[in-house]
Amino acid sequence: MQSFTFSRFANRFKPSQKLFSNKLFTAVNMVVLGIESSCDETSIAILDNGKILSNKIYTQKEHTAFGGVVPEIASREHIKKIDRLYRNALEESGKTISDIELIAVTDRPGLAGALLVGISFASGLHTATGIPTIGVNHLEGHIASVMLENDVPFPLITLVVSGGHSSIYRINGFGEYEILGQTIDDAAGEAFDKVGKMIGFQYPAGRSIEECAKLHTGSELIDFPIGKVREHAGYNFSFSGLKTSVKYYAQKLSPEELEIQKPLICHSFQQAIIKAILNNLKDAVRDTGIANIAMVGGVACNGTIRDALKATFGESVWFPSPILCTDNAAMIAKAGLEAWNSGDRRFPSMQPTADISRKEFRK
Ligand code: KG4
Ligand code: ZN
Repeated sequence: MQSFTFSRFANRFKPSQKLFSNKLFTAVNMVVLGIESSCDETSIAILDNGKILSNKIYTQKEHTAFGGVVPEIASREHIKKIDRLYRNALEESGKTISDIELIAVTDRPGLAGALLVGISFASGLHTATGIPTIGVNHLEGHIASVMLENDVPFPLITLVVSGGHSSIYRINGFGEYEILGQTIDDAAGEAFDKVGKMIGFQYPAGRSIEECAKLHTGSELIDFPIGKVREHAGYNFSFSGLKTSVKYYAQKLSPEELEIQKPLICHSFQQAIIKAILNNLKDAVRDTGIANIAMVGGVACNGTIRDALKATFGESVWFPSPILCTDNAAMIAKAGLEAWNSGDRRFPSMQPTADISRKEFRK
């Protein structure tokens, strides 16, 4: 096996190479191996020159019976699956380990035991081969997901809506982030999952709620409240009141009534989420003067929410393909590549932080 040394790469990629503001800097062609294991998806991807050669994803089914992710089970399943996914990804890409020029691994934020599996795997490969290895913030991975298929314009208002996060960023270029707002309680995906559990869907419930909502015909709408965050709280979200309203509404129904009303409940809940998202995005667009918008993260799979954004903001809205919205290693490889090209050399180290601002992110 050909071995790589850091210095060989250090010569090619001088830390003095600067991120060119307001645009992506992917001038350097590298073959990147991405590794993601922060929650309940184990994923390995290979990118060549920013193009996806392989993006193998295993979504753990083992948590369904528990109605949510069980951390210890997640770690064990990652351990069982990661090596097979790695081999399959290499095979599909037509590459061997000696072709890999950079390893990018999620090292924050996430479940500690789950993160450790990916980081240990990356560290093992690094020790055996000397391939340069970089730690990636999972949220920055989600942000990079929209850059895999699209030449997105900057500045960009980006909404990250997943099972763990609901945040709005102003992005001036890769690595240049300003957080405009975030949830003060539940994440949007978490609200989908918890409401789904209340009305009888399995975890994760986002897709089931979207499908069930489509069965609702007519104009009837339950007026579930959208979290009203204090006036001066910027562009923050609150979804816990909405979740509690659905709970009280569903509790009053008999099992038969609940079954009949499920499409109406799902539709009304989803519309409340859409209203909250649109309100904040409209305010952010008005106040910043930035018309370009991206939506990323698992909830961005939702076609009804996508359609609502398109109807409101037209052509200037960007989404990754659904397979790149939920957790995957291609987005981690992309974020690692962009970070590396901007001069970042942070070796993976576990941190619980979700902060992606440069000062915290580079520690
Ligand atoms: O990004 P992701 O895979 O994991 C985290 O980083 O959290 O997002 C998972 C979340 C889950 O809460 C799931 O219910 C939600 O994304 N989700 C959806 C849809 N598909 C997945 N939410 C709404 N509609 C969907 N179609
Ligand atoms: Zn995620």
